[in-house]
Amino acid sequence: MSEIDPPVVRPRRLRTTPAMRDLVAETTLRPSQLVLPLFVREGIAEPQPIASMPGLFQHTRDTLRKAVTEAAEAGVRGVMLYGIPETKDATGSGGIDREGILNVAIRDVVAEVGDAVVVMSDLCLDEFTDHGHCGVLTSDGRVDNDATLAAYAEMAVVQAEAGVDLVGPSGMMDGQVAVIRAALDASGHTDTGILAYGAKYASAFFGPFREAVDSSLEGDRRTYQQDPRNGTEGVREALLDVEQGADIVMVKPALAYLDVLRQVRDAPELRGVPVAAYNVSGEYAMVEAAAANGWIDREPAILETLTAISRAGADVILTYWAAEAARLVR
Ligand code: PBG
Repeated sequence: MSEIDPPVVRPRRLRTTPAMRDLVAETTLRPSQLVLPLFVREGIAEPQPIASMPGLFQHTRDTLRKAVTEAAEAGVRGVMLYGIPETKDATGSGGIDREGILNVAIRDVVAEVGDAVVVMSDLCLDEFTDHGHCGVLTSDGRVDNDATLAAYAEMAVVQAEAGVDLVGPSGMMDGQVAVIRAALDASGHTDTGILAYGAKYASAFFGPFREAVDSSLEGDRRTYQQDPRNGTEGVREALLDVEQGADIVMVKPALAYLDVLRQVRDAPELRGVPVAAYNVSGEYAMVEAAAANGWIDREPAILETLTAISRAGADVILTYWAAEAARLVR
């Protein structure tokens, strides 16, 4: 047996105690960077559990207000609202109707929490269309980009009138941010901001969400959402959104796209622009399902997931665990 030279450099010295590890930690998860997405459904008397997303509910207007208050108390600084209408139609008119569920919910939530929480709303037609696509269709069934832009412009103004702080255009139509910015400005809503879904991929990880919003989609969204094989294209999309007036750009989903998130965060043209990441329904469901089976330790898995998204470059994180994670790290 030859003598082994002891190592001179010992990285383990910085891992010896919890205090030492805290001292040198590069990433800190803050409750104030978390945003809680919430679902509100028209015409229900009791909250409805979402089977594909254990622990989450389609809220009534009442329980939505309670959920937002609880999140605020936990330290969360943002909520993203999704509405599920009682009836859907070809043009998604329920999204534009001032008395539509999403628009009344925005008013409810703004009245409840005021300035304590940043109120955001999904700006997309898919929850409101009977075909489930994010836009209106041409006579031969394709998603009509420019006709959809007109609908988004109207939807943005109605959401702004309801008092939303940030609209979240998630439909991936070309030019949507410019049209929304122009419509907001022309109607005097210069302070209403845009959280743009810069890079949004046609992802299997949205599966559980489709049940959460009772989606009627058949087929897929590959003619408008991005191809998962493309990373630098995500940076291009984010840049286009900022050029068009986006205040914050988002990468979605998060976990399978941490490389895209890092590229967006490091793009020199995007210095100073907050970058968000969306820890989507499928990412939530995988951990919940494994934990329910005793295959994974739930709370450490949640915190590791969110810390990794932050480490990869997210300033803001949308996650269904927002309120719980905020309590865990406080
Ligand atoms: C579209 C929208 C979707 C999600 C957020 N906004 C669904 C889709 O693009 O198919 C997915 C969110 C998630 O999976 O958690 N309105």
